[in-house]
Formats: sequence, structure tokens, C-alpha cells
Amino acid sequence: MYINENFIKLPQSYLFSTVASKLKEYRAAHPDAELIRMDIGDVTLPIASCVTEAMHRAVDDMSKSDTFHGYGPEQGYPFLREAIAKTDYQERGIDITADDIFISDGAKSDLGNLGNIYSQKSIIGVADPGYPVYVDSSVMDGRGGELLGDGRWSRILYMDCKPENGFKPGVPKQSVDVLFLCSPCNPTGTVFTRDELKEWVDYARRNRSLIIFDSAYEAFVTDPDVPRSIYEIEGAKEVAIEIRSFSKTAGFTGLRCGYTVVPAELKGTDREGNEYPLRQLWNRRQSTKFNGASYIIQRGAEALYTPEGREAIKKNIDTYLSNARYIRQAMEKAGFEVYGGENSPYVWMRLPEENDSWALFERLLSEAQVSSTPGIGFGECGAGFIRLTGFNTPENTRKAMDRISKMNLKRENGAEDDFSSLNDVKAIKAIDELDKLTESLGIK
Ligand code: MLT
Repeated sequence: MYINENFIKLPQSYLFSTVASKLKEYRAAHPDAELIRMDIGDVTLPIASCVTEAMHRAVDDMSKSDTFHGYGPEQGYPFLREAIAKTDYQERGIDITADDIFISDGAKSDLGNLGNIYSQKSIIGVADPGYPVYVDSSVMDGRGGELLGDGRWSRILYMDCKPENGFKPGVPKQSVDVLFLCSPCNPTGTVFTRDELKEWVDYARRNRSLIIFDSAYEAFVTDPDVPRSIYEIEGAKEVAIEIRSFSKTAGFTGLRCGYTVVPAELKGTDREGNEYPLRQLWNRRQSTKFNGASYIIQRGAEALYTPEGREAIKKNIDTYLSNARYIRQAMEKAGFEVYGGENSPYVWMRLPEENDSWALFERLLSEAQVSSTPGIGFGECGAGFIRLTGFNTPENTRKAMDRISKMNLKRENGAEDDFSSLNDVKAIKAIDELDKLTESLGIK
């Protein structure tokens, strides 16, 4: 048999696996180092008790013949789909129904799996920097073309995101079949305004493109002017699939549950121009290749829609956002160029020392025992940047920022001082905020 040669075209390891193996090596060589993880967006707060109690009840259901559950619906249980449609959409004035919702085992799987339902010849458009799953899964499916000298793929359209455009891609001049958009953006933390998102929806309608809207971080949006769903924009149901996740909001990174919205209005065409609802294709794909998320996990996710669940999510988000704000303010104070950290758990930071993000990663690791994600891992435009996350504990976040501030790194403003104390008004405000939060949550 012959292998899918697209796999050998790809760099050997996935970004976060490479980071993890470098950290493993570092730990083996420095067993006493107190490493602070600020790399992968993995959460630290435990699962809310209303969720674990619901899962315990679901486990008990499995032990009795009258409440036992075997194969569930591939699309997800109606109890969860209805709770999502009502709370996440209808109560916010968005006309999405339970039929539009497909429960998944997380955003990452669906971002890759959706490639099954559009043509292999589709031209893909991605923001650079962007979540690496968009490009890697497109390459696996044969949509990458050839790897060029600059690390980009010949058949993929890269939309450069730089400080000059606020790290936000503008609509391309040419027609693209499938666009991956992410807001709040992983990794830069930037968000689209309503007007900007409307430009994308209008573009997709003009060009008959599909937008895959990665909305995994929507719950971090606090600014009322920033849309949380692409369906807040008129006409979006005809052009967009929206993907969401319980991972970062409710601590489900290990439990695995999310959902994908495929509205009935969304259609694609065959070569003869006949139209087909994408939902029909996705349903066919899911019922063939997926047996649904587990009953126990879906019962846990359902509990997030109770008043206790909503409260727990709010506390998680407040903690992570407060960490992110602290990182942003501490790093700004220390003289770095910093983006994100508002409406987002991610902070994107330029270290002007050198353009090699992996060298910066190594320096932060060896000199501060802080792990980061090298910006280059998200695309060429990420060179010279690193991404830090607000997902660690408030105490570790503070410690990590203190360590980085004390490093002898070149600063944006030219200063090379030792920034051992953060004593401006903004930084003090962020520390106070963190202290209050830490106390109210009983976190050390
Ligand atoms: C990230 O750190 O970018 C994400 O946690 C990775 C993921 O969700 O797969």
C-alpha cells in the first residue's frame, strides 16, 4: 500500500507536540526547576461541582437498565442541543435552532474534519499567524500544494496579520473557497468588530465562499461592541459554519466537548451548479465517522446551562481574563510591544532581541523557567513574537511575569534595565484586581 504522501510533506511534529517534547527534555535535564507553563492554552481551574455532580448522576444512569444509554445520536443529545440553541443563541436574539447544532468532541476535531465536505480542490485562506490546525489539516487533505522556501504552502492563501493592520486580516482581492477566521483570535488575541465581520460575510456572499468561524474563545468577549457569534451579522447563516468549545470556558480540555453550527440556509454546489445543503453532507459525515460525544460528558455540558453552571463559567473567564490583563500590563510596563489580553486569554508579544521565535522560547525557558509558544509556529508573520496564555493560576502568572521582567532582554523602548518592580498605576490596578479575585475564589 502507498501512504498519503501529504503527511510526509508536513513538518515532522505538530506545534504543541514539539513544545511539549522540548519541555519534557528540559524537565529531564533540570528536575528541580520550577517551570511555569504559559504555552498551550490548557486550563488550570477545576471543573465546576454542578458539572461533576451531573456526570456522577450520568454514571449512575449507566448502571441501571432503565436509564442505561448505548449509542447516542451522532449529532448529540437533544437535551444539550436545545440548551445551547436557547442560551447561546436565541436568548441573544440569534435565530439558531437545535437542528443547526452538532455536538462534537471539541473544536479541533471539527476544524479538521470539516475538510471532508468541501472539494479537495478548494482554495483555502488563512490568517497568518493562525491556529496551525487550519493549515496542517488542509495539507493532510491534499489542499496545500508544495511547501515553499518561506515555510508557506503554494496552494494556500495567507492573509498577513501584522502590527500595521492591527493583526487583523482584510478581505482578499481574489476569490477564496474556504476561509478560516478566528475571533477572538488565537494566537494574537485580536477581535473583529461588527463592521469588520460584516465585510467578511459580504465578501463570502459575493464570492460564494464558506467561512469556517472559529469561535472557541467567544466567551472571553466582554466588550458589547464585539460580536460573539458570526450569526449576529445579517446573511451569515448562508455562508458560515461556527465552531465553539467548552474547553477553555468550563475546563473541558480533558473531558472533550464542543459544538459546530451548520445552519439550514448554508449550501454548496457541485460542478454542474446544483445546490446541496452543507448540513446534509456534515450529517452524513458525522453519522458515518463519529458516534457522538459520550452521554456522561454531554450531561456534564448540559449542567453548564444551569444558573450554577453560568456562574462557574463566569468565574473561570474572570480569572483567566484578569491573568491575561495582568500579563499585558506587566509586559507593557517592562517595555515590550504587546497585543491581545483583552476579550481574549492570549497575549501576543514581540521580543525585539532577535527574529528567531524558537531561540526566544529557549531563552525564556532557560533563564526564567517560563514556557511560551513561539510565534513562528503560527505562521511566518509570527517570527520574533511569542504567545503567552492567561490560563495558569494568578499566583504563577504573577511569578512568571516577574521572572520575565527581570531578564536582560532588549526592550521596545530601547531600555535594557532590570525591571524588577512594576509600580505604575496600571500595573498596580492589575495586581489589585488579581488579589481581589484570588481572594474571592479562594485560590492561592
Ligand atoms: C492552543 O494553545 O492554541 C490551544 O489550546 C490548542 C488547542 O486547543 O488545540
